[in-house]
Amino acid sequence: MVGSEGCDTQAVGRRRFYLACIYGLSTIMGMALAVPAAVYLLFPPRSRKEDQWVEAAELSQLEVGVPEEVVFRHNRVDGWKISSEKTSAWVLKKSDTEVVAFAPQCTHLGCAYRWEESKKNFLCPCHTSNFDIEGKVIDGPAPRPLDRYLVRIEGKKLFLGPIQKSPEA
Ligand code: FES
Repeated sequence: MVGSEGCDTQAVGRRRFYLACIYGLSTIMGMALAVPAAVYLLFPPRSRKEDQWVEAAELSQLEVGVPEEVVFRHNRVDGWKISSEKTSAWVLKKSDTEVVAFAPQCTHLGCAYRWEESKKNFLCPCHTSNFDIEGKVIDGPAPRPLDRYLVRIEGKKLFLGPIQKSPEA
């Protein structure tokens, strides 16, 4: 009888040990799933505004009064995914403290336009919209002036922010 009680005690101890293992593993697996889910739910994706300003150019490298195409990379934030992409702006430096930066797409159907130095205007080759140096429509089907980036000057560096859609002409 003593041997049988010993076996029972051992069996109970082993059962408790297995139960403790099962509960312990369940808890670990639950935590492994719950922690990322909690992070996903409690912490929003990175703020888009943080990534919207990008250093685009050195002011000293821009000529006053002549629009120049500036190519730069910026981060695109899509939820938790951040991708780096190349884009550009037509930048007009008016002075060391005043800069205008136009979005690179024509406001008609989005073609890339260019500065025509001989005519002193921007020309879109797709449907021949012309814009003056301030981005206003001179002629062609473009319904509104060129869109502009928000600009910020810090020291001698030009930072570009989000594109502001221009109002209809
Ligand atoms: S896309 Fe520029 S004029 Fe049509």
